[in-house]
Amino acid sequence: MKNRPSGFGIEKLPRIVRGQGSYLFDAAGKRYLDGSGGPAVFCLGHAHPEVNAAITQQLHEIAYAYRYLFTSSALEHLTETVLRLCGGDFQDIVYTGSGSEAVESAMKIALQHFAARGLRTKRHFIARRRSWHGNTLGALSISDFAQRRRAFEGSLLDVTFVSAANAYRMPDGVSAEDLVAHLAAELEHAIVSLGPQCVAAFVFEPIVGAAGGVVPAPDGYVQAIQSVCRKYDVLLIADEVMCGSGRSGTWRALEHDQVVPDIMSIAKGLAGGYIPLAATLVTARVAAPIRSEHGAFMTGHTFTGHTAACAAGLAVQNIIERDRLLDRVRTVGATLQETIRHALSRFDEVGDVRGRGFFIGIELVRDRQTRLPFSPERALSFDIGARAFADGLICYPCSGNVDGTAGDTIIIAPPYNASDSELEEIVTKFARAVDAALSSS
Ligand SMILES: Cc1ncc(COP(=O)(O)O)c(C=O)c1O
Repeated sequence: MKNRPSGFGIEKLPRIVRGQGSYLFDAAGKRYLDGSGGPAVFCLGHAHPEVNAAITQQLHEIAYAYRYLFTSSALEHLTETVLRLCGGDFQDIVYTGSGSEAVESAMKIALQHFAARGLRTKRHFIARRRSWHGNTLGALSISDFAQRRRAFEGSLLDVTFVSAANAYRMPDGVSAEDLVAHLAAELEHAIVSLGPQCVAAFVFEPIVGAAGGVVPAPDGYVQAIQSVCRKYDVLLIADEVMCGSGRSGTWRALEHDQVVPDIMSIAKGLAGGYIPLAATLVTARVAAPIRSEHGAFMTGHTFTGHTAACAAGLAVQNIIERDRLLDRVRTVGATLQETIRHALSRFDEVGDVRGRGFFIGIELVRDRQTRLPFSPERALSFDIGARAFADGLICYPCSGNVDGTAGDTIIIAPPYNASDSELEEIVTKFARAVDAALSSS
């Protein structure tokens, strides 16, 4: 079939027929354990009866009502719930249908904030190398993912990139002790060089997902960049599309750093993949001038706040809270990371195992001492992903984390309610795939 999708180097995709808990089943009856929720989406696994019942109930009542005409109980309750789960630090939520739109909205709200204050030269964004923020033109412009940008170069926004905050791959000549100060100074230098009057926002992933292979920021980094941003009236936008909504063991990933950003995007774990749902959260400080000058955020789409999607999100969040699943993600996540590290310790090519909660990255290197990557032609992470898939395990291979082209990482991100035995099966099958791929090198 023309235009048939293919993924992770797997040419002929199996046809999915159903999911149940942490497992998916294809038309041939083969079972797959969802060790990564695709790209870290399925926080409650598949076909959760309570989520399905909540969506079905909503569909029976009304699927969707247009946001400029009606509010709904699902939308209001989800909004109250998310604002509360975020610790009461945000005032407003703008719903969207994808992570890219949530990031795009974050960028537009930052620009609108400064326009409302009469600071119309504050238009420029600063982002980080080795980051991914999405596929709309604005979100792609702030993403440093060479393969995904290439075809669109020339039409992207002019964005300034600063170094990634990666303790495993530090800028040349910088020691671990100096890393945070170096990165904060680099950001400050970028803002001053551009002129603070031109810079609207600094955008970053608190734990880098696909572009880095789960890279948490070093301790003290977020506080340091927040104070640089405050000094120059630059907004801090945290993109928690992948790492947020509980994935790293706290509802907001930045709770770990005790930092509240000015604007935050969330998506994947919000409705857990049951219906597309994403959101942008805004603090009172950012919203106030917009409210008084413009009345409302000038962003949003026809399907913003889709009623059935909000019902799905509400059901997912209620279950996670009721079943105290984030406690499980925190405590069992630490054990899972240790178990993966132990299971892979016999492979010299495993350079780093890192992450938080149920968001774990494994980086493979040609040489542990020098941390040199494998050649991109070897496509090692995709080879491991394809072997795991053939063996009935879904994990999330990523490439290019070192320089945009070379680098092999794999993400493990199970559902928050995956059982202990399912987590064991993930580790066993993953180690088997790594072994098979490395043995064939
Ligand atoms: C951190 C981050 N931001 C934004 C996006 C874009 O989200 P979406 O693919 O839902 O548009 C992604 C997707 O993987 C992501 O990981």
